[in-house]
Amino acid sequence: MTKNFAVLSSGGDAPGMNAAVRAVVLACEREGGQVIGYRYGYNGLLSQSCRNLNAKTVHNLIQQGGTVLHSGRCPEFKSEQSAKTAAANLNEKAIDCLIVIGGDGSFRGAAHLSKYWSGQVIGLPGTIDNDIPGTDATIGYYTAIETAVTSIDKVRDTADAFERLFLVEVMGRHAGFLALKAAIASASDYVILPELFESEDKSLNEIELQLHKHRKDVEHDSFIIVVAENVWPGGLDALSSSLAQRTGSEIRPVILGHVQRGGSPVSQDRILATKLGCEAVQAAYDGDNCIMIGEQKGELVRTPLSEVCDASKPLTASTVKTMKLLLNNRYA
Ligand code: ADP
Ligand code: F6P
Repeated sequence: MTKNFAVLSSGGDAPGMNAAVRAVVLACEREGGQVIGYRYGYNGLLSQSCRNLNAKTVHNLIQQGGTVLHSGRCPEFKSEQSAKTAAANLNEKAIDCLIVIGGDGSFRGAAHLSKYWSGQVIGLPGTIDNDIPGTDATIGYYTAIETAVTSIDKVRDTADAFERLFLVEVMGRHAGFLALKAAIASASDYVILPELFESEDKSLNEIELQLHKHRKDVEHDSFIIVVAENVWPGGLDALSSSLAQRTGSEIRPVILGHVQRGGSPVSQDRILATKLGCEAVQAAYDGDNCIMIGEQKGELVRTPLSEVCDASKPLTASTVKTMKLLLNNRYA
């Protein structure tokens, strides 16, 4: 029997969300089913704001950044009444399966809905933060790394010209995946990550030591520190003045910000999104419910939403090892 699908994107948008929507639509049509897309995350589900999606509407979509469905945050979705309204709206449209593309917050919303709706709910991990367990990478993560790295490369040019110390803040909410990968790939000189941060004093001492050696070995003052957002108490301004006091260096802070969420997805994100989107439709036909589709070690995996919503995801040990060798502990 064919199924009717609904899809929405929720929370922080990520490059590759469109590729996931496209894959869901094409895989669903292949099975003879129909798809609607809800707009603005759970807001559209509550207001019944949706549109039909088909091969024509997803044509030329895979390379587009952002999300054609728009995204949104919807605090009222946490209430029992909202979930009941959403369930009634899905039933009115005769939807069998809702596919939610988003982060852990969006998956909490999906799990909440499933308590009041008898249809199937399937999550696709879409966030630049890569902070979702059950998958090695999330949709959007690879593109965001690329954006951060090309931005830091540009910072490097001017840092070298003036021999300045730069602080570059990278997104990630409370996770350091993006900052870590961006720091390694841009050959930055130090990185501050939430997972490894102990205290301001300890970090300042280490930076001072490393800067001293750097000046001796490389014989110039250009030095780039990648800082994950939300780690340093008082943010880049506080770090900047503490470092200026200690080192006497001229310091410039740069916040990369939302530029990291935009742009055409790189091929790794397109491929990941396409694989996960197709697998979500397959999982629905297999009768799965309340799961997230991920990819681990090249294999597609289905993990219960209950296991991904509240669990934390550790940084990859081998990447941390490389980071310690080449960045923070280079001279230890
Ligand atoms: P992300 O999915 O990127 O982690 P958020 O944490 O902002 O983004 O969550 C996105 C949306 O998911 C929220 O605005 C809300 O609509 C929904 N949501 C988050 N937590 C819950 C919850 N506990 N119950 C119901 N809905 C939730
Ligand atoms: O979760 C994705 C993300 O971009 C985080 O990296 C960041 O902390 C947050 O969203 C920013 O959210 P907003 O779009 O509300 O500023």
